[in-house]
Amino acid sequence: MNGLVSGPMRIVSGIQPTGSLHLGNYLGAIRNWVRMQDEAGEGAECLFFLADLHAISLPHDPATLRSGTLELTAALVACGLDPARSILFNQAQVPQHAELQWLLSGTARMGWLNRMTQWKDKAGKNREGASVALFAYPVLQAADVLLYQATHVPVGEDQKQHLELARDIAQKFNNDFGTEDEPVFTLPEPIIPPAAARIMSLRDGSAKMSKSDPSDMSRINLTDDADAIMQKVRKAKSDAEPLPSEPAGLEGRAEARNLVTIYAALSGQPIEAVLAEHGGTGFGAFKPALGELLVAVLAPITQRFTGLLEDRDALDAVLAEGAARARAIAAPTLVSVYRALGMVRG
Ligand code: TYM
Repeated sequence: MNGLVSGPMRIVSGIQPTGSLHLGNYLGAIRNWVRMQDEAGEGAECLFFLADLHAISLPHDPATLRSGTLELTAALVACGLDPARSILFNQAQVPQHAELQWLLSGTARMGWLNRMTQWKDKAGKNREGASVALFAYPVLQAADVLLYQATHVPVGEDQKQHLELARDIAQKFNNDFGTEDEPVFTLPEPIIPPAAARIMSLRDGSAKMSKSDPSDMSRINLTDDADAIMQKVRKAKSDAEPLPSEPAGLEGRAEARNLVTIYAALSGQPIEAVLAEHGGTGFGAFKPALGELLVAVLAPITQRFTGLLEDRDALDAVLAEGAARARAIAAPTLVSVYRALGMVRG
C-alpha cells in the first residue's frame, strides 16, 4: 500500500471499445476485474469503463465505435461483471474524465510522455503525423483513475508503465498543490496477474496478442465459436519438440511457453503442474487438449454474450445508469482539484 490509501478499496479499470474482446484481455485483465468484484470486501467500490475517449487517438470509424461500445458492454457482462455490483459505463458519458485530463496537463511533463513505449510503438517513425491525442493519451488514462481516487487498478503487463505515470502525476500534483495532511489524489496500485499478464500472439511468440493485429488467426476472440477456436489452436505456431517436464525447458521456446501459459491460466493450475502432466507430449496431442479447454471456458461466455446483444436498449440503460453513478463519485475530486489550483468557481 502507498500510505495514502485508507478506508475501503476503490477498484478502477478500463478497456478500449475498438475491436473484439480477446483472450489476452480476458486472462490479463477482465477475469481479474470479475474476481475483484466478487471478492471485494464491505464498502469496496468497483468502476469499470469503456475507454471510448481513448479510441479517437487513432483513426476510427464512428459507426464501428458506437456498435463496438455496446458489444463490449455485452461481452463484459457475459464475462461476469454484474452492473448491480460494479459501476459499468463509457467515458463519454462522464465529462469529468476529459475535464480532469486538462487540469492534469499542467502537471504532466513532455519528457514523461515521450518515454511511453506505447507512444513510441504506435506513432512509429511518423511522430509529426500522429495525433495530439495519441501523445496525451496517458494523461487521460491518469485522469481515468485519479478522478475516482482509485486504490487498485487491475491491468495486464502492457499498462504498467501508464500506471506508473499516473502515480508520478498524482505525486507531483500532491507535492505542488496539496498539503501533507490533505493530498488531492490517492496513489493507485497496479494489480497485475502473476500468470497470464502478457498473452502472446498465436502466430508470433514475441508479439502480444492484440486487437490491432491484422491477422485474426493471431488471437482468440471471446466471440469465436468452437470450430474457429479449434482451428486457430491447431494452426498456432509451435515447435517440433515435445513439451518439457519443467518450466526451465521452455527457455527460448516463446510459442510453447505461450500455449502452456494459456493452458495453465484457463485450468487454474501453475505451469509446473501443467508440465508435470503433459511433459513429453508433442503439440499434436497438446493442442487439441488446449482447444477443448478453451471451448469449455469460452462457450458459456459466448452464449450469454449473444443473448445480451439482443436487447440493445438494456445495454444502453446499463451504461447510462453506470455513468450517473460514476459522475457522482467523480464530483468531489474535481471540486478539490479546482480549489487546489486556485480557480474561482461560483
Ligand atoms: P486495452 O483496451 O488495450 O486492454 C484492456 C486490458 O487488457 C489487457 N491486455 C492484455 N493482458 C495480457 N495479455 C495481452 N495480450 C493483453 N492485451 C491487453 C491490458 O493490459 C488492459 O488491462 N489504455 C488501456 C485502457 C485504459 C485503462 C485506463 C486501463 C484507459 N484508461 C485506466 C486502466 C486504467 C488500453 O488500451 O487497454
